[in-house]
Amino acid sequence: MAVIIDGKATALVVRGALRKDVEAFAQEKNIAPGLAVVIVGSDPASQVYVRNKHKACGEVGMYSEVHALPAETTEDELLLLIDKLNKDAKIHGILVQLPLPKHLDEEKVILAIDPRKDVDAFHPQNVGKIMIGNFSFVPCTPAGVMELLKQYNIDPAGKHCVIIGRSNIVGKPQAMLMLKENATVTICHSKTANLAEITKTADILVAAVGRANFVTADMVKEGAVVIDVGINRNADGKLCGDVDFAAVEPMASYITPVPGGVGPMTITMLLKNTLTAAKEQTK
Ligand code: GUN
Repeated sequence: MAVIIDGKATALVVRGALRKDVEAFAQEKNIAPGLAVVIVGSDPASQVYVRNKHKACGEVGMYSEVHALPAETTEDELLLLIDKLNKDAKIHGILVQLPLPKHLDEEKVILAIDPRKDVDAFHPQNVGKIMIGNFSFVPCTPAGVMELLKQYNIDPAGKHCVIIGRSNIVGKPQAMLMLKENATVTICHSKTANLAEITKTADILVAAVGRANFVTADMVKEGAVVIDVGINRNADGKLCGDVDFAAVEPMASYITPVPGGVGPMTITMLLKNTLTAAKEQTK
């Protein structure tokens, strides 16, 4: 029987501490940390994420504004808005919700965000800093995973951490954060040969594939820590992760559920990054 890592409860604890830090900052600087969230189009999942980010800001005493633009917004219009937000003193963090509609160049849009306001840590300047191990912003989902491990006293040092997935948002930065905590890291992906053989050697297994029930019991070592970053819908339309939870849970020492695992931590880390950005911009 595994310990079920409670992301919801952990997020509440971290957000409670954050609320106090935000209050102290606002009293000292006479301004609340401010986040601008930009969403283009009407992807239902993105709309839910954006609404949750906006709500979470309010709960910890941050200022936030949502810019919901129609799907046919041109690149010039979007870049103009980002330029305006870059110059807006009320705004310390800018997040452009991905994915963008196909006619918009994500790379160009990310490059347009002032790296000091890039609370997603997607700008190449911030990505480079993560590679070096000297960073202010940590990408929210991998940072949420690290915070969960910390709160449950799971030290990655000396452990073999296997990450399934090599995305710029999760897999790659997750590897760097684990490395910084002295784990031995393997990144697996869709072209990895003998995947199960490798994942079976993981002390900490992070699944970031985007496929329901991808990680099965035969891929997991007895006693492994299993972290599920996936958010999928199964055949019944129910929210589920990348891990076959029912089959894997009895073998794991710790496991995150979906929902209620990594998800609640992601927004918490975004709030943390926004406060960090506000502190650095008001020094
Ligand atoms: N879409 C899915 N995850 C993320 C994220 O962490 N940041 C942004 N901007 N878009 C996303």
